[in-house]
Amino acid sequence: MASFPMTDPPVITIDGPAASGKGTIAARVAQALGFGYLDSGALYRLMALHAVRSGIALDDEAGLATLAASLDAAFGDGDIRLAGDAVTEAIRSEPISAAASQVAQYPQLRLALLERQRAFLRPPGLVAEGRDMGTVVFPHARLKVFLTASPEVRAQRRHKQLMEKGLGANMQALLEDIRQRDARDGARSAAPLKPAVDAILLDTTGLDIEQVVDRVLRLWWERK
Ligand code: CDP
Repeated sequence: MASFPMTDPPVITIDGPAASGKGTIAARVAQALGFGYLDSGALYRLMALHAVRSGIALDDEAGLATLAASLDAAFGDGDIRLAGDAVTEAIRSEPISAAASQVAQYPQLRLALLERQRAFLRPPGLVAEGRDMGTVVFPHARLKVFLTASPEVRAQRRHKQLMEKGLGANMQALLEDIRQRDARDGARSAAPLKPAVDAILLDTTGLDIEQVVDRVLRLWWERK
């Protein structure tokens, strides 16, 4: 178990459900502060792809936990690699999104990825985004934010994102997928999606990216 002396570099955690805007917000906040950035969801996505490529069944908990030790992940500037292969787009596909949410329910696998996530913490600080950053991975974070937005708004955002990338998307299917993932992420016994008791809830339903980034930065300056 890692310890978290007060002298450790500061951590800001940004947790929330699928398509709540965590990724974009966390990256912008990290950039504004010159902090490092951990996209923990990408680690679960990489694990899912690693399992598929290695022929490990997605319900083989012990096999997945063992496989985690050989996960060769590299995060570059907007470029994510698995064993040297550029997989930034591949890990965002719908089958891998579903597989990531499936493997993420296993406690043994979550434990196998714990220290790897904590190793991202280096001076001058870290913005970590995911589901359990404030509850499990960085319980002593200096600022914890939990983003929410209605499923409909989140489905619309994802739809817009996919259209901008020139990918087709069906609103009803996206909404259904978001509801299913919310249910699975919220119901699992290991690190279910829920705000830390000391997290600040931020409903982003009527807000754009700039406004949310602004609020998080303001919360940070108030806290310092
Ligand atoms: O972007 P989106 O929120 O849809 O997904 P993500 O953050 O990339 O996470 C992909 C999947 O990994 C989620 O469905 C979660 O089940 C899982 N995850 C998790 O269990 N714990 C985390 N800290 C981050 C992601």
